Amino acid sequence: MHAAGRGCGQAFLTEIFVAEDIMLVTDEIYEHILFPPHKHICPATLPGMRQRTVVVQSISKTASATGWRIGWIIAPPAITLKVRAVHDSIVIQAPTPLQKGAERFLCVAKTQPPGLVVGLERGFLCKID
Ligand SMILES: Cc1ncc(COP(=O)(O)O)c(C=O)c1O
Repeated sequence: MHAAGRGCGQAFLTEIFVAEDIMLVTDEIYEHILFPPHKHICPATLPGMRQRTVVVQSISKTASATGWRIGWIIAPPAITLKVRAVHDSIVIQAPTPLQKGAERFLCVAKTQPPGLVVGLERGFLCKID
């Protein structure tokens, strides 16, 4: 969801989602790969959007672990219940060692000063240049 005009655009879009009772599924896998001056804003944090947003995340890009297939969603409880039921019968689980690796990455990222995942965009800028 790109909200042109920042504040105004976001308010306009969230008004539509609320008024029309629309759910938003947002893939935020590239959350930490941003080109300045852009900033990531999770739509679930916008007024009225928490109960109508499903945030999809993965360690794929943030931890440079593409292919591990370790991800998660953040959603209202009623939705996570259904997603877990489907996930359990379709996906089963990612390999345990990869889950442990992802857990370790997230624990380290949580306890480090901000900056562990800063600068991920530099690798892409090099490729562009
Ligand atoms: C936008 C986007 N979402 C999701 C995925 C899937 O991520 P994962 O490697 O965790 O399956 C990718 C993978 O490249 C992606 O580009």
